[in-house]
Amino acid sequence: MTAELSPIDKAKYVAARRAVEFVEDGMRVGLGTGSTAAWMVRCLGELVREEGMMITGVATSTRTADLAREVGVTIKTLDEVRWLDLTIDGADEYDPNLNLIKGGGGALLHEKIVATASDQMVVIADLTKQVDTLGAFPLPVEIIPFGWQTTKALIEEMLSNVDVLGRSASLRLSGTEPFKTDEGNYILDLHLRRIAQPAQVSLVLNQIPGVVENGLFLDICDVLVIGNADGTVEVRDINNGTIEHERVDVSDSDNLFDEVRD
Ligand code: 5RP
Repeated sequence: MTAELSPIDKAKYVAARRAVEFVEDGMRVGLGTGSTAAWMVRCLGELVREEGMMITGVATSTRTADLAREVGVTIKTLDEVRWLDLTIDGADEYDPNLNLIKGGGGALLHEKIVATASDQMVVIADLTKQVDTLGAFPLPVEIIPFGWQTTKALIEEMLSNVDVLGRSASLRLSGTEPFKTDEGNYILDLHLRRIAQPAQVSLVLNQIPGVVENGLFLDICDVLVIGNADGTVEVRDINNGTIEHERVDVSDSDNLFDEVRD
């Protein structure tokens, strides 16, 4: 049945399917946002419905919370749960040290809070997200609406003092209006092309008044699961220093794909 999915969806699905093997009965799980994370939420729903697994999810966006409830995963707030066993989320870019750019879906603030409040972060992605150096994907920065043009100017000024290749920032739009995050904030996308020193860029960005958080996730990801369209995955564990190649059994996935088609 995976034959009916596009190659990229197959890759996302097998990464998600492998990642939910990290989830154990009774765990509190942070649920990421995006198309790859959506596959993971559907896989978790299957575990809950078909295997009776007890999972409490903390969603990183209203989109994810809606999907999780739809597929049968109990959702609580981070304040109710306080700490999580595991977070599974997608990424826009990953480098060889498993540092990430996230926020393409506009949920970076909640995603960073949730991942930081987790014993372990598992990232699910495909090979299109792999880079040697972060920065080809525009770096999302969440800023408050008040005085946003001043904040943008301060960010652009700051960028002249760091080692990046591009220095322009654009306000993310939804149609003709500014895109708004779940917190009601705006997103600036920074077109940096190459970020030589991500830790420095992250630090100086977050010192600018008006900046709430940036999309660099540094030293947060523990395990990266890279899915491939041929049904294989690569599992990189940064703490153990291991890289494993496996094949994911998708023979029992028909119900899940039926749900997506419905
Ligand atoms: C949302 C994110 C997503 O994880 C990231 O954009 C990847 O999304 P997708 O799996 O759809 O490619 O950071 O804020």
